[in-house]
Amino acid sequence: MVALARVQHATPQPAADPQFAADVLAGLKATPKRIPAKYFYDSEGSRLFEEITALPEYYPTRCEMKILREQGGEIAGLIPEGAALIELGSGSTKKVRILLKHAPKLAVYVPVDISAEFLRREAAELRRNRPELPVVPVVADFCKPFGLPEMARTASARVGLFPGSTIGNFEPHEAADFLRNIGKILGTGATLIVGVDLIKPPEILNAAYNDKQGVTADFNFNLLTRINRELGAHFKPEFFEHHAFYNRERNRIEMHLASLKRQKVRVGGETVDFRAGETIHTENSYKYSVDSLNALASGVGWTPLQVWTDPDKYFAVAAFRFAAPAA
Ligand code: SAH
Ligand code: AVI
Repeated sequence: MVALARVQHATPQPAADPQFAADVLAGLKATPKRIPAKYFYDSEGSRLFEEITALPEYYPTRCEMKILREQGGEIAGLIPEGAALIELGSGSTKKVRILLKHAPKLAVYVPVDISAEFLRREAAELRRNRPELPVVPVVADFCKPFGLPEMARTASARVGLFPGSTIGNFEPHEAADFLRNIGKILGTGATLIVGVDLIKPPEILNAAYNDKQGVTADFNFNLLTRINRELGAHFKPEFFEHHAFYNRERNRIEMHLASLKRQKVRVGGETVDFRAGETIHTENSYKYSVDSLNALASGVGWTPLQVWTDPDKYFAVAAFRFAAPAA
């Protein structure tokens, strides 16, 4: 379950995003050390995630795509003509492309993502492939309030799409806050289609985050490369190890970067001490049951409508309708 660093120390450059600097420093001063998983996604992180989705061990993407291919007609039946389709964490947009084959004429497709360059490139390619579809990308952190483009606000209906089990990267209470906020943004009567990775035997889960080619390890180490480049830090990735394991009690995969030795690292003008074996917790990937997802969503105003799974029940796509919860 470990892999050695293969990435190089990058040339320091000034910090681009003060929030990134503040979050990284606060997380490295905390006990245990942690960094929010959303910071994986610079352009290289987005590219590495796409590589992960093609790995033999990483079943979630294949399972979700199979559901969308085989049940896409029924799922797209929840998208009315003239609706705005808003995708949260759109990445490569390869899943929405399957749904779009079945969807009626949309008012607008709004991919929302934190990975600005990757989002712009994907939106441009989608426009080239589907010139009839208005595509209005929004670069935003979807954990914070963000505005919908005019065309989505004035559309006759709004449908959210949140695939990839990105919901699993939140703590459950954060997932509830997120669903509540998205309900407020999309409005009463909106539909939300969520992809979620289901609880399954630990050996399958552990393999998915410890692939033989070491791509998931590279994805994890890229965070250090990004911190070096954007914050002028001096992490030596070769002095860290990729740790990923299933925590059965909490139904989550944990990813960490473990220090191979006692070391001091300069980050943003400060010094961070590591004990040998001490880790930076970089990601949780919670696994749900259909019932636990439905309970979470129901609690914040999203009424379960329908669920589709693959034959192995590794992955689920679930649809919900929003009725603003009583104040
Ligand atoms: N939906 C795609 C990509 C999943 S990877 C798929 O199913 O394959 C998670 C995506 O969410 C990435 O594209 C990442 O950039 C984006 N993301 C992660 N945290 C985010 C945040 N806080 N705000 C906006 N986008 C985020
Ligand atoms: C995007 N997210 C749901 C992925 C996951 O499985 O938690 C990110 C990832 N991390 C390691 N491999 C893939």
